[in-house]
Amino acid sequence: MQVRIMNGDNGKDAVSCARTVPNKSWSFKILYFILIFFVLGLGVCILSMNMIRYLGLRNMVLRESSRLEPCDDATNTLECWRKPPSNLMHNMNDTELFWRATFAPRIQEYPYKRVPKVAFMFLTRGPLPLSPLWERFFRGNEGLYSIYVHSLPGYRANYSRSSVFYGRQIPSQVTEWGKMSMCDAERRLLANALLDLSNEYFVLLSEACIATRNFTIVYRYISKSRYSFLGSYDEHGPYGRGRYDKRMEPEVTLEQWRKGSQWFEVNRELALRIVEDKVYYPKFKEFCKPACYVDEHYFPTMLTILVPHLLANRSLTYTDWSRGGPHPATYGKKDISKEFFDKILGRRMCFYNHRLVFLCQLFARKFAPSALEPLLSLSSEVFGY
Ligand SMILES: *[C@@H]1O[C@H](CO)[C@@H](O)[C@H](O)[C@H]1NC(C)=O
Ligand SMILES: *[C@@H]1O[C@H](CO)[C@@H](O)[C@H](O)[C@H]1NC(C)=O
Ligand SMILES: *[C@@H]1O[C@H](CO)[C@@H](O)[C@H](O)[C@H]1NC(C)=O
Ligand SMILES: *[C@@H]1O[C@H](CO)[C@@H](O)[C@H](O)[C@H]1NC(C)=O
Repeated sequence: MQVRIMNGDNGKDAVSCARTVPNKSWSFKILYFILIFFVLGLGVCILSMNMIRYLGLRNMVLRESSRLEPCDDATNTLECWRKPPSNLMHNMNDTELFWRATFAPRIQEYPYKRVPKVAFMFLTRGPLPLSPLWERFFRGNEGLYSIYVHSLPGYRANYSRSSVFYGRQIPSQVTEWGKMSMCDAERRLLANALLDLSNEYFVLLSEACIATRNFTIVYRYISKSRYSFLGSYDEHGPYGRGRYDKRMEPEVTLEQWRKGSQWFEVNRELALRIVEDKVYYPKFKEFCKPACYVDEHYFPTMLTILVPHLLANRSLTYTDWSRGGPHPATYGKKDISKEFFDKILGRRMCFYNHRLVFLCQLFARKFAPSALEPLLSLSSEVFGY
């Protein structure tokens, strides 16, 4: 009422009154609202901060459990670039995998303490009957090795969680003895192993191979060598130069043609050379088909051309060809004894870093599943594990 009266009297006053009189109650209301907003805002703030922390934690947990994408914006730390994929199964085909595997640092020193690992790569049909022996070999050496298994595609591995072979299977394809698909499988093993930056040495094995020394000796022998152990020699005659095809020129000449055992040990530099190759691969694929066994010629010839100064030109894997024929001798239960290993292991001499030594081989093949039991009872005395 008062306001209206004053309004009628003096417009100017009315304006000032209209401003001042209700101001008291309004300012209380506004203050009240501001307070409510403030309290509400504070609440929302605290709640969202907790949510972020909770979700962040959840994300981290999720990331830990499925680290297929190694790095995204939130985890862009050196740690995350260094870490190997925790799950060896991936959806890359060979073209994509090989491309990814050949990423290599150009700066040679690592900006962190890198412990070089040996990658043990098992090329198998399916099961690993000698796995209990290998479990014994690896035990206690965690952090110094990694394992990769390439078996025929249909094979379902069934290792317990405590096994060193658990979850170590890589995506595989059909592999035929003596054909290019065998080299493809070996390159696939190398490429998968290259994804782990700490792998420095790469050993190819089969389900019929055993280690004839303990891990300590194997690791030292391989890591202290100036050369990689890949058999490579120039053999005259039908099984050596006789398998050469002149159409491989000019990439490969007859003088460059080499032969060597399939079972190699190479360092990271050589592994990269093998995976990145696009020059020699097509030549071998086209012009080295049975009776040219490509797995005996492709890597030895190519690496002798590219990096002869890095090769020891001998294999670390003992194989017995004395019985003749296209396949080496296979040892079963009745063959295994201490004398047998004294005979096959201790007889030779060879060069190791330019010094003559007696220890020339660290692995041996071929052993049938029936050999497992006697091998297990001999291993500590004869192999030192
Ligand atoms: C892999 O996939 C890419 C893209 O689809 C394709 O270009 C390439 O030929 C494939 N490689 C193989 C070996 O299948
Ligand atoms: C896998 O292993 C488990 C336990 O060792 C065994 O019970 C099961 O029969 C095995 N499955 C196959 C297909 O071998
Ligand atoms: C291996 O053979 C190549 C040539 O075939 C040679 O250059 C190299 O020095 C040899 N390696 C050793 C350790 O003798
Ligand atoms: C490995 O074998 C060597 C020789 O056989 C032995 O001296 C050494 O103690 C063994 N190492 C381990 C860790 O068993």
